[in-house]
Amino acid sequence: MLYFDNNATTRVDPAVVDAMLPFFSEKYGNPSAGYRFARESRAALDTAREQVAAFLGAEASEIVFTGCGTESNNAAIASALRAQPGKRHLVTSAVEHSAVLKYCAALAGEGVETTVLPVDGDGRIALEGLEAALRPDTALVTLMLANNETGVLSPVAEAAELLRGRGIFLHTDAVNAAGKVPLSFTDGGVHLLSLSGHKFHAPKGIGILYVNRHVRFHPFLVGGGQEGGRRAGTEAVPNIVAIGKAAELAADFLANGGGARLASLRDRFEAEILARVPGAVRNGSAVRRLPNTSHLSFEGLDAGEMLLLLDQKDFYCSSGSACSTGKVSPSHVMLAMGHGEERARSSLRFSLSRFTTEAEVDQAIAIMVGAAGKLRSLRPPGLVGGA
Ligand SMILES: Cc1ncc(COP(=O)(O)O)c(C=O)c1O
Repeated sequence: MLYFDNNATTRVDPAVVDAMLPFFSEKYGNPSAGYRFARESRAALDTAREQVAAFLGAEASEIVFTGCGTESNNAAIASALRAQPGKRHLVTSAVEHSAVLKYCAALAGEGVETTVLPVDGDGRIALEGLEAALRPDTALVTLMLANNETGVLSPVAEAAELLRGRGIFLHTDAVNAAGKVPLSFTDGGVHLLSLSGHKFHAPKGIGILYVNRHVRFHPFLVGGGQEGGRRAGTEAVPNIVAIGKAAELAADFLANGGGARLASLRDRFEAEILARVPGAVRNGSAVRRLPNTSHLSFEGLDAGEMLLLLDQKDFYCSSGSACSTGKVSPSHVMLAMGHGEERARSSLRFSLSRFTTEAEVDQAIAIMVGAAGKLRSLRPPGLVGGA
């Protein structure tokens, strides 16, 4: 199989599986228990916290383990509002993941207003609008570090500079950036940062929320005193061990030129497709983007039909479209970039990982060229989608 959908989820690294397995079977003590048997679980949590902190250039005390990226994003936004009771305004961008956009929309019912910043044709958040969007009651600016569909990077460091000293929290959803670009935003400019294990070779069901030590934090889940009172619920020790190991491996990968290797594989794939598939165009900035992501539209072709054909070849990528209740709706990211529905519905996302090989890239190119050619031969020019 050719798996080119690593922005959706990743394979758990075998070394991560090895690290977590004993915590299911032999070392299953509850880390909150006082007896000796539980000490290993407690120590494992401490190690994982250190590993994640090192990955982020943070302090261990600033790492909170959560259940997923969605929870981290929701918790960051909720905390910023609760920590500043008089402030009821949020700023975000049009290309955020639904774990931010839908949560902000849901908060409208509680009287919270959200300003949504547009993006330019390259998919980049227009920072010029940020200053104008700020209000005396702005509690939080939340901007994703890398877009999950296009891979385009957001100017989060610039936003941090702009916000410095204004008493407004800055959160970044770094879920799709982890393991692909260095995460060095913990110098105080970014107050809250979200990660999700399954995007960088840890299992599903484990997230991180970085909470800067100078920031007031209000817990999202309330109950037991776990995570220093910041996230109640018995710690998912195997998953936490896993995300610690995955963070260590991701840091090693990036320190050893992994980003450049990913970019060269992606660039080879993309250049060949653009050259050999008539009507193929790239969406989003070619430069300021994740090294593993290629988001392409295929003029006159339908992404859903292409996915069916690719599926038959055991080649897995994804369309930027969200399928809900049987109706495929065009990606909000593509629409925000100013593309029409037709281009949005003809787009596919290809996302590589550190396990992707050159041979797989070559096979993927051949399959894509063949599939696009086959579909085009079946469809007279000018017709898109099911009539
Ligand atoms: C940018 C981004 N944020 C948040 C999430 C949600 O993460 P999780 O699946 O861990 O809830 C995703 C997952 O697709 C994502 O890509």
